[in-house]
Amino acid sequence: MIPQSFVEDLLMRVDIVDVVERYVPLKKAGANLVARCPFHQEKSPSFTVSPTKQFYHCFGCGAHGSAITFLMEHGGLGFVDAVRELAGTVGMTVPDEKPHAARDAHAGSGTQALYEALAQAAQYYRQSLKQSEAAIAYLKGRGLSGEVAARFGIGYAPNGWQSLAQVFPDYRAKVLEHCGLVIAGEQDKRYDRFRDRIMFPIQDRRGQIIGFGGRVLTQGEPKYLNSPETALFEKGRELYGLSQARQAIRAQGRVLVVEGYMDVVALAQHGIGYAVATLGTATTAIHAQTLLRQADEVLFCFDGDAAGRRAAWRALENTLAELADGKQVGFLFLPEADDPDTFVRREGREAFEAALREQVMPLSSFLIEELRGRRDLGSEEGRANFLALAKPLLEKIRAPGLRLMLRKRVADLTGLQADELSSLYGPAPTAPLRVAAPAPRAGRVAPSLARKLLQLLMFEPKLIAPCAGDGEVSPDSPLADLLSVCGRSGWCGGEAQTLKAVLEFLRDHPQISHAAPLVEHFRETGHGPLLYQIEQEVLQWGEDFAVKQEFQGALDQVGALLRHEKIDALRQKGLGALTLEERQMLQRLLREPGQAEKNQG
Ligand code: UTP
Ligand code: MN
Repeated sequence: MIPQSFVEDLLMRVDIVDVVERYVPLKKAGANLVARCPFHQEKSPSFTVSPTKQFYHCFGCGAHGSAITFLMEHGGLGFVDAVRELAGTVGMTVPDEKPHAARDAHAGSGTQALYEALAQAAQYYRQSLKQSEAAIAYLKGRGLSGEVAARFGIGYAPNGWQSLAQVFPDYRAKVLEHCGLVIAGEQDKRYDRFRDRIMFPIQDRRGQIIGFGGRVLTQGEPKYLNSPETALFEKGRELYGLSQARQAIRAQGRVLVVEGYMDVVALAQHGIGYAVATLGTATTAIHAQTLLRQADEVLFCFDGDAAGRRAAWRALENTLAELADGKQVGFLFLPEADDPDTFVRREGREAFEAALREQVMPLSSFLIEELRGRRDLGSEEGRANFLALAKPLLEKIRAPGLRLMLRKRVADLTGLQADELSSLYGPAPTAPLRVAAPAPRAGRVAPSLARKLLQLLMFEPKLIAPCAGDGEVSPDSPLADLLSVCGRSGWCGGEAQTLKAVLEFLRDHPQISHAAPLVEHFRETGHGPLLYQIEQEVLQWGEDFAVKQEFQGALDQVGALLRHEKIDALRQKGLGALTLEERQMLQRLLREPGQAEKNQG
């Protein structure tokens, strides 16, 4: 496993312009460089590379990332290969690429050790597949070629209680439990979670393995056994096959969501590479967000049975809030006894794609049809009930156009006039709530103070350096103030949490001078999505932007905030209860806004 610090150093040394320019001719446009996007078809250039911020962003398709991501997505390289290639161009040597499994298992349960253990296990499962005739026959029987099996890293877990002891000499290492590979039973007995199963490695967006799904070869319960949720693996976030599907999704401008591992793999086998699967869970809002970020068209393909319909409805409910005008979400229901795997194997790619073209039900139709099916619109009561059912769903939609269209449709179906519907549903919002515009532009909405600070630090991480003082952060430095403010409950929630994490990271990595290594560091954490958004926001800022002044302004606001807090605290004590010192401090605080804290130090 490549140490994170190496990745950060690497991103500090390479120049994304050089990297991109090897593949795509760039033209200067103000502070940035632009080109026609290599990830989707377009006439005018909306692919932007920022030399100062060291990332690229396409306003057309949303492609976005660092030099490493570029090589992964454009060159189709895995994370490790992309890092290796980049390192080569700047003469750096990738350290510690294949540490010994045993040593790493000892290293404890840091996430790095978890990744490493899973990668080792996956390699072992792939090897074992080659030696199992039964497993090979099973996969062949399901129509898979060796090539596709390899592409998804499919393997086989042999039928023994401690097969993994062959890979991990220290079978008792906690890390094996923590990554879900080994189960600690009663009386200190330990055994492999996956035995005699076809193994589907689950990768995160970067292509690192974070868990497995294992299928029985014959009969048996459960049919699929999945990794438990671990520090790396959270079912409601991950989509199986996303890292393999990325390029096809970009090329097609659409992503297809199916239910099963085998559906994804079988579709890929038949040339439909843009499918991903939820992992035996309902489609969550996080899934919906991720999916809508990948492509403008998101199609859910579920089984034709009642369970499939329920799954589709859950997906609809969790997608409503994430929709934007300009995005299309649709549902394809297969014939009763089919799933995408059986359908594509029997009918072939053409027929499957024809169904995608011709039989997809737009989300709006599905919503209306489903509700219509539940209530009798022939009676007053039925229509009233229909109105009540539709209301909370429509309220979730923040895409103004779609919301308006659906209100119209609901009004028509119930025989209401627009103003009558408004009296029941409240007025239709006129201000745009959410449009599929590329990234919000800086300055369009006044950001919160925490967000503003995040934007500024993304734009210029070095801003924080003079705030920390030399070496140890002094307790009355602006940085200490900032950290203390972020810790307050109620101060801007998530943004403040992220700001705190970013400040601590920059404090500990003072060499960082642009945003790419920062975003890279937080990509897989809960802070990732917000930083990603902010990264896009600052891309719009010109180089002549007065960052220093803006930053000072924000610091002053933080100072004022703290000053008011201190004043309030002193006042609450009651003037009579103050010591002489406290009274003098209060006078100073009241008299000299902005100066008080500095004078104290
Ligand atoms: P299905 O039961 O529809 O299986 O489960 P499938 O994908 O068609 O599997 P094959 O074709 O028989 O191999 C769909 C998905 O639900 C999850 C898995 O992610 C599976 O791919 N699942 C299913 C489980 O997690 N556990 C189970 O026991 C069954
Ligand atoms: Mn199936």
